[in-house]
Amino acid sequence: MSGSAIFVACSALPEGDGDEHAVPEALADLGFKTRWAAWDDTTVDFGTADIVVLRATWDYAERRDEFLSWAESVPALSNSAEVARWNTDKSYLAELGDAGVAVVPTTLIAPGDETPRWPKGEFVLKPAIGAGSRGVGKFAPAGADYAASHLKSLHDAGHTVVMQPYQSSVDSAGEIALVYFGGVYSHAFSKAAMLGRELDESGLYVTEKLAPVQPAAGFRALAEDALDATAALLGILRAELLYARVDLVAGPDGRPLLLELELVEPSLGFRQADAAAAWRFASAVRQQLA
Ligand SMILES: Nc1ncnc2c1ncn2[C@@H]1O[C@H](COP(=O)(O)OP(=O)(O)O)[C@@H](O)[C@H]1O
Ligand SMILES: [Mg+2]
Repeated sequence: MSGSAIFVACSALPEGDGDEHAVPEALADLGFKTRWAAWDDTTVDFGTADIVVLRATWDYAERRDEFLSWAESVPALSNSAEVARWNTDKSYLAELGDAGVAVVPTTLIAPGDETPRWPKGEFVLKPAIGAGSRGVGKFAPAGADYAASHLKSLHDAGHTVVMQPYQSSVDSAGEIALVYFGGVYSHAFSKAAMLGRELDESGLYVTEKLAPVQPAAGFRALAEDALDATAALLGILRAELLYARVDLVAGPDGRPLLLELELVEPSLGFRQADAAAAWRFASAVRQQLA
């Protein structure tokens, strides 16, 4: 078999941040030629590739409608446009919670809704459509005025707002990101607390501090539950997800909670994984085309 793959990024970082550097070679071993392109580069014909892989499309949040209609126009997109539509709005967290997945308690506040009762401890307000930690604010109950003004500014910009209790384990253990290729576990890494850090020079994301990690059984089991529930909600097989990253935190009682499920443009942490992770990814690409 031979074929062509396009890895999709954005104009500010047209070849991503370098995390995938070993993947094109792993794909070449299996007969694929890989090139990179920005999703909004109109000189590129995305219809000619055997597979078009969403990777570093980190500027979609401000242009989501445009991004999703582009995604719908690409025949061989992985993950699919339908998955991208569902997953680019953090309202999916409430759906997964309703489906019985242990999610960080999530309240959605739409523009026009009345001001909520603030949580008793520290809490987070963030845009339902957002990425790269942009627009995420952390507040204390004593700072309710700041929270109200952040809420208003997000509402004025048209956002539905996600309110969650702050999970202080991100400051100690960090978030645990579990990575799946074709619905099967590959590797995991930890991410130190993001809030209060600087934006990268591209202005698209907060620079992350990552390290390899061996997730405990309860974390692996919750990630599996989250993927099963997602496949059921979307009416797809897990294997149809070329990649998935499940971001978990330890809740107040130490048990894991889902903070985010990333199916569009997560960094997959190849640099934090064993060398065979690139081979597993290439194998999952072949599986998508089989
Ligand atoms: N409820 C929360 N408790 C603790 N930290 C949070 C919470 N929500 C967000 N954060 C911090 O903000 C970062 C970005 O939020 P996240 O929900 O992952 O959105 P995105 O990655 O799409 O910007 C997280 O990586 C985490 O460090
Ligand atoms: Mg995140």
